[in-house]
Amino acid sequence: MKVLLTGGAGFIGSHTFVELIKDGYTPIIVDNLYNSSERVLERLEKISGVKPIFYKIDVCDKKAFRAVFKEHDISSVIHFAGYKAVGESVNIPLAYYRNNIDSTLSLCELMKEFGVVQLVFSSSATVYANNTQMPLTEDMPTGATNPYGWTKYMIEQILQDFCAADPELSVALLRYFNPVGAHESGLIGESPRGIPNNLMPYITQVANGKLERLSVFGNDYPTPDGTGVRDYLHVCDLAAAHAAACKYISQHKGCEIFNIGTGKGYSVLDLVKTFETVNQVKIPYAIVDRRPGDIAECYADPSRAKNQLHWEAKFGIQEMCRDAWNWQQKNPEGLL
Ligand code: UFG
Repeated sequence: MKVLLTGGAGFIGSHTFVELIKDGYTPIIVDNLYNSSERVLERLEKISGVKPIFYKIDVCDKKAFRAVFKEHDISSVIHFAGYKAVGESVNIPLAYYRNNIDSTLSLCELMKEFGVVQLVFSSSATVYANNTQMPLTEDMPTGATNPYGWTKYMIEQILQDFCAADPELSVALLRYFNPVGAHESGLIGESPRGIPNNLMPYITQVANGKLERLSVFGNDYPTPDGTGVRDYLHVCDLAAAHAAACKYISQHKGCEIFNIGTGKGYSVLDLVKTFETVNQVKIPYAIVDRRPGDIAECYADPSRAKNQLHWEAKFGIQEMCRDAWNWQQKNPEGLL
């Protein structure tokens, strides 16, 4: 069965490719390589033994994208493609709305045109923006605090409406918590452009001496050690959640939302200390002011995914730290 992966050369898409191959699917990657590299393709072949079917296409280019639907009998789509940097989205909001919303609309129109009825969407825990009660369940109120988050919020709404209008559709909205780590081979992983914004890639670049020290954004939150708490999730677990969602939507119609997290919260300092212990490296850090827009805590109640998708995270924070460092050491410049 052919599964189309928009943004399939990126961090989460590439790991999902590997997982889908294991489950007997034929993934087809469509990616404009804006935030990824063609070099990932040979790495995917090395890991999986399968040469990826790849199209360098922008999903917003409907004409080019239509040709892929024409050429392949696609059974389902996983929609990863999109801009994803929170800070950047505040500076160039129109680019975020244009790109993320347009690409989704093009995709949905083509699915309709070609009778493709199964879709998995990369949403984010960021849509729980204003909740302070933890853990987060899927029925809690949603909203956003930045344009990136609003695009996820709006796309969820678009897909719910798309589904409500067509009883044949099956859609899974996966709300990711904080994906980190890398494939155990060290062949694929996260390649942030420039100085990383996210905690784990920042730590790995401090570990290898590229960056001098980590700035810990605030130690006065109402958390056990005062630093921000998040639900870190190994990217291979997240990839497996996509394979589970593909199976689920082949058997269930309608639109369902799933939290994809471990259900466990770790603080910034928990992550730093675990990284140091597991990898035997020192991570110099300094406490600085809070980062605007950050919240104290964010972690999932993942029980719906467990009950309905039969998925749960297998890797712990030690493996996340080990694999992130293994990837960074083998690819000091990333793959971009
Ligand atoms: N942090 C630091 N120093 C850094 C970077 C991060 O102390 O240099 C702290 C943050 O303050 C926060 C934690 O580490 O407490 C995690 O921060 P990240 O930037 O790694 O992740 P966020 O939880 O802020 O954001 C992530 C994704 C978003 C997504 C959001 C959803 O990056 O895309 O989760 O919850 F929207």
